[in-house]
Amino acid sequence: NRSSGKQGTAIAVEAAARGAKVTLVSTVPAAVPPGVDVVRVESAAEMQAAVEARYDDADIVVMAAAVADFRPVRAADHKIKKENGVPEVVLERTPDILAGLGQRKRPDQVLVGFAAETTDLRANAAAKLARKGADLIVANDVSQPQVGFEHDTNAVVIIGADGAEVEVPLSDKRQVAVAVLDAALRVRSAAVRRSPGTQQPGTE
Ligand code: CTP
Repeated sequence: NRSSGKQGTAIAVEAAARGAKVTLVSTVPAAVPPGVDVVRVESAAEMQAAVEARYDDADIVVMAAAVADFRPVRAADHKIKKENGVPEVVLERTPDILAGLGQRKRPDQVLVGFAAETTDLRANAAAKLARKGADLIVANDVSQPQVGFEHDTNAVVIIGADGAEVEVPLSDKRQVAVAVLDAALRVRSAAVRRSPGTQQPGTE
């Protein structure tokens, strides 16, 4: 799809600037600072495998990717010849990576999803947060000018599982990354306080 990966990259860059050990799993990896581990994938299945393999080591996971929701059931082995008529392309759902992570989340882990919406932003995003077992959802109305796909700017509402909201007006994607990580760290601090034995943020 038209997703540029800029928001995910901005989050990786901001997290690295704060001293985090960062892995960026992306279909469109851009320039990142040295030290950020970049894992290049192409399909939803590859992204799922790459993310799941690293999940247990992560304190905070941010799923900013615009993952395709459907894929063809069959891929042709050879060139499809046109004299055989117009082919029928049958689609199936791709795995929901975020929902899978939500199901096996440890109490000390923080899971942040994104919600790309064009109507009923807050209600749709809050429902997505609950459905996928995330701690935070970053809701963006992608029908608004300069928001979301391909742009350098974004405007979001960060919604917590407790209903708390942080509104970020139209800003540079790096500024959105700052707000997302601030919110994620607040959740992480609370989660660590509730889970004795885990390290405080900033001490690892
Ligand atoms: N997501 C995912 N795997 C998918 C689809 C989406 O992990 N197969 C994640 C996205 O990275 C994002 C969140 O789920 O963090 C919401 O994605 P979004 O496209 O807004 O919603 P969908 O779940 O695809 O629902 P719908 O398209 O019906 O609004």
